[in-house]
Amino acid sequence: MPDPADLVALASAVAREAGELLLARHGQAAVVQTKSSPTDVVTEMDHAAERLIRDRLLAARPDDAILGEEGGQTGTGLVRWVVDPLDGTVNYLYGLPGWAVSVAAEVAGVVVAGAVCVPLQRSTFTATLGGGAWLDSAFDGSPRRLACNSGLELRDALVATGFGYPAGQRAAQGRVVAAVLPRVRDIRRAGAAAVDLCSVAAGRVDAYYEQGTHYWDIAAGGLIAREAGAVTGGLRGDEPGEAMTLAADPVLFAELRDLLASLDADRLPAG
Ligand code: IPD
Repeated sequence: MPDPADLVALASAVAREAGELLLARHGQAAVVQTKSSPTDVVTEMDHAAERLIRDRLLAARPDDAILGEEGGQTGTGLVRWVVDPLDGTVNYLYGLPGWAVSVAAEVAGVVVAGAVCVPLQRSTFTATLGGGAWLDSAFDGSPRRLACNSGLELRDALVATGFGYPAGQRAAQGRVVAAVLPRVRDIRRAGAAAVDLCSVAAGRVDAYYEQGTHYWDIAAGGLIAREAGAVTGGLRGDEPGEAMTLAADPVLFAELRDLLASLDADRLPAG
């Protein structure tokens, strides 16, 4: 059985190296493709970062499988890497700082290690299953263990969210957030799901919810949030996923889940 400590060390090293590569073209990259809508862009650097990550992972562990946002699934094996080479592509395109490289490792289908590197925060968030969540930041002397905020009611909570790209989905998400906004301290839309989940872990926001996230957006950040004490899930006892990804400390999770379920926030039109 692979040691999660070895997996997280590799995840962190490759995420940082890809982050360095991405820094070179930050705010200057060319769009090469659109996906679910004309606003859902892919830059040359999404592809370059994923190529680098795949090369490094396979050089270190040639028998592993990899699921990447741009390259899809390759290989089979006990260990599968789940990679978002550039989460927050629109931030990256515009030169905003909230973008990240996200690398998670599953063993037999369970995420056991994850790293999210946020180069312009000079920060790498990591976690192993049962080993806690950690932040290695240039602003701190040494890595520090993370704990999400707890003991809050919804009316006092700072809630992060995100929006999909298709216009119809956005219109519906706008109606949901309009109903949430008067019931919370405030809303943040930072632009990268992996960073939002790490922000829950670090207590920089109190909760995060979004419909339409992909597995590579949330695999590493979800583990990091859970290891910092948050619950992650959908609205009806399900796993976090495309229908809904919600993360918060258990009490706040329940209150926000009930509100979002009453709004059918996990049953919005996808397009
Ligand atoms: C997106 C970001 C964004 C979220 C979208 C994601 P991408 O990922 O995480 O914050 O709202 O749902 O698709 O397209 O930048 O990799």
